[in-house]
Amino acid sequence: MKELNIGLIGYGFMGRAHSNAFRKVGNFFDLEYQPVLKAVCGRDVEKVKGFAAKWGYESFETDWRRLLAREDIDLVDIACPNDMHKEIAIAAAKAGKMILCEKPLSMNGPEGVKMVQAVEKAGVPNMVWYNYRRVPAVALAKQLIDEGRLGRIFHYRAKFLQDWTISEDLPQGGAGLWRLDVKVAGSGVTGDLLAHCIDTAIWLNGSFETVTAMTETFIKRRKHNLTGKVEKVGIDDACAFLARFQNGSLATFESTRYARGHKALNTFEINGEHASIAWDLHDLHRLQYFDHRDEGRVRGWRSIHVTDGDQPYMGKWWVPGLQIGYEHSFVHQVADFLEGVAKGKPASPTFRDALETQYVCDAVLKSARTHRWEKVARAIK
Ligand SMILES: NC(=O)c1ccc[n+]([C@@H]2O[C@H](COP(=O)([O-])OP(=O)(O)OC[C@H]3O[C@@H](n4cnc5c(N)ncnc54)[C@H](O)[C@@H]3O)[C@@H](O)[C@H]2O)c1
Repeated sequence: MKELNIGLIGYGFMGRAHSNAFRKVGNFFDLEYQPVLKAVCGRDVEKVKGFAAKWGYESFETDWRRLLAREDIDLVDIACPNDMHKEIAIAAAKAGKMILCEKPLSMNGPEGVKMVQAVEKAGVPNMVWYNYRRVPAVALAKQLIDEGRLGRIFHYRAKFLQDWTISEDLPQGGAGLWRLDVKVAGSGVTGDLLAHCIDTAIWLNGSFETVTAMTETFIKRRKHNLTGKVEKVGIDDACAFLARFQNGSLATFESTRYARGHKALNTFEINGEHASIAWDLHDLHRLQYFDHRDEGRVRGWRSIHVTDGDQPYMGKWWVPGLQIGYEHSFVHQVADFLEGVAKGKPASPTFRDALETQYVCDAVLKSARTHRWEKVARAIK
């Protein structure tokens, strides 16, 4: 096994999810490369030291530039807030490192273009952590669609609902709350939550054509944690949009952080000429499937428990009937990336793939401002 030295930047929610994946992947997948937790980077020396000790990183840095300058780092993993993705990714590409970058790729399309150009010029393997593609039930949905079982697709319906920003007293900005600060997040639910739904939709249903959107910022002013002042809120608290896909299907997307009772209701449903499928993150190991070609007397929605060895990724885990969870989607993504490195093939979504999602987000936010249908820009040549 060849060693591949990881340098992780950011040790929050995603820093933990990625570290867990790097540690587990070699135990469950037969790979040519074994990730080595070489260094973690964060600004707070005590915290980053504690994280390194807890997760087994050999060393730590407090400045990401120093991490990039190290010759013993092969792969840079960007798990920090959105406003830092571009600068770090371009510098990492120039340093010749492989790059894994958290979603959304960038703050907007033009930033994303520069990132795509940088990794492609450097010729470094790259991937964006749209991890829901690697949930076995979602990967099974992809197989069923690609086999043509649904027939012509008419409708795509997606939601991502949360309820954690309803309080007016919640500040914006700083640790844990950077998602409410538009200068750091780029946008609100559009880039944070809908980007996931959009990436999954592109993967399952192909490219978008046009969108029309509405957004709302329910709480207009919040105290900023870093300045201490009450400041205007620049993010979209909620966003709903209609879309037309290139395959002729119609779609609806909705996301909010104001749906009381919902913590992470991430769902999609696809209706085709012959069959429909539906998936819900809260029941992520199940795929709902209805096939009109079934014999009428027993026709109905089937709830497929995706745990069998012939279903995507499941042959690598336990025995049929035993389900896996959220964290495994990250393990699968690392496994696919490392396999791609070994074979010299890109693992999706690459930066270029993820730019397409960025363009959809840009068109959605533009439409919310113009109140018109907007065409989604094509990915760069
Ligand atoms: N794939 C997913 O499902 C998913 C889920 C959550 C977040 N994300 C994405 O992951 C990224 C991080 O989100 P999170 O939830 O882990 O955030 P978080 O707030 O939990 O962690 C962010 C980390 O970045 C660090 N950081 C900030 N500035 C830094 C700097 N200058 N140098 C080094 N470290 C710095 C913070 O200290 C913290 O450790 C975001 O881009 C977010 O959109 C993706």
